[in-house]
Amino acid sequence: MSGLPESRLGTKAHWDSMYELEVSNFKEFQDEGEIWFGEESEERIVQWIEDYVSNEQRTSAGGAFRVLDLGTGNGHLILRIAEEADSLLPQPCVLLGVDYSEKGVELAKKLAEAHGFQERVGFEQYDIIKDLRFCDGTWDLILDKGTFDAISLSTETLNGSPLNQVYVDRIHEMLSPKGLFLITSCNWTLEELSERFVKKGFRIHSTVPVPVFEFQGRKGSSTTVVAFEIAN
Ligand SMILES: C[S@@+](CC[C@H](N)C(=O)[O-])C[C@H]1O[C@@H](n2cnc3c(N)ncnc32)[C@H](O)[C@@H]1O
Repeated sequence: MSGLPESRLGTKAHWDSMYELEVSNFKEFQDEGEIWFGEESEERIVQWIEDYVSNEQRTSAGGAFRVLDLGTGNGHLILRIAEEADSLLPQPCVLLGVDYSEKGVELAKKLAEAHGFQERVGFEQYDIIKDLRFCDGTWDLILDKGTFDAISLSTETLNGSPLNQVYVDRIHEMLSPKGLFLITSCNWTLEELSERFVKKGFRIHSTVPVPVFEFQGRKGSSTTVVAFEIAN
C-alpha cells in the first residue's frame, strides 16, 4: 500500500489529458497553466537555494552543478530557477526537468522557448520509477514539488513494492554523495516523510517554514517542505 487512497492523480492518463488541454490553452491564449501550490511555493524554494546551496561546495568532483526537477510538469519551477541561475547556483550548472507525460514535456519546452530559456534548461520525457538512466549518482540538487504526492496516489506496484517506496530508492540512486533532495508535499507531514526517507539511508538536512493555518482551534501546515541528504 502507498498509504494514500487511490486517485486519478496517480495515473499517467490524468496528467496526459491535463497537459494536452494546457498545451492547447497555451497555443490559443498563451496561458502557461497551473503553478502547483502557487507562486509563493516557488519563491520559498528559490530562497532555500539561496540560503543553503548558493555558497556551499556541493558540486560532484570537477563537473558542473547538476539540478534535476522531477515531475516538472509545465516546467515553471525550473524556469523560475533559470532566471536567477547565474547568481543562485554554483557555476557552471546543468538544469533538467523531467516528466513521464510527453504532453507535459511539450508544454515545458514551449514555455522555455517563450521565455528564451530553451538553451539553458533541458526537458526530457522520463518515468522516475521505470527509467533508470538518471540513476547515476551525479545530481547535486533534486527537486520535487507535488510529484511524490502524485506517485503516492498510484495503486501500481513494481516487483510487489508500492511506487512511492521505489521512488525513495530512485532518489538515493540519482543523488550525488553531497547532493540535496528538496521535496514539497501537501499529502505527507514532516514526520511521515522523514520516516520513509530516513529508513532508506537519508537524513534531514533542513526544513522550510510554511504558513500555518488554524481551523476550529487546530493548527496545521498546508504543505511540508523538507530537504534530505544521504546519511552515509
Ligand atoms: C502535482 S504535479 C506537479 C508538477 C510540477 N512539479 C509543479 O510543481 O507544477 C505532478 C507531476 O508529476 C508527474 N509524474 C507523476 N508520476 C511520474 C513518474 N512516475 N515519472 C515522472 N513524472 C511523474 C506528473 O506528470 C505531473 O506533472
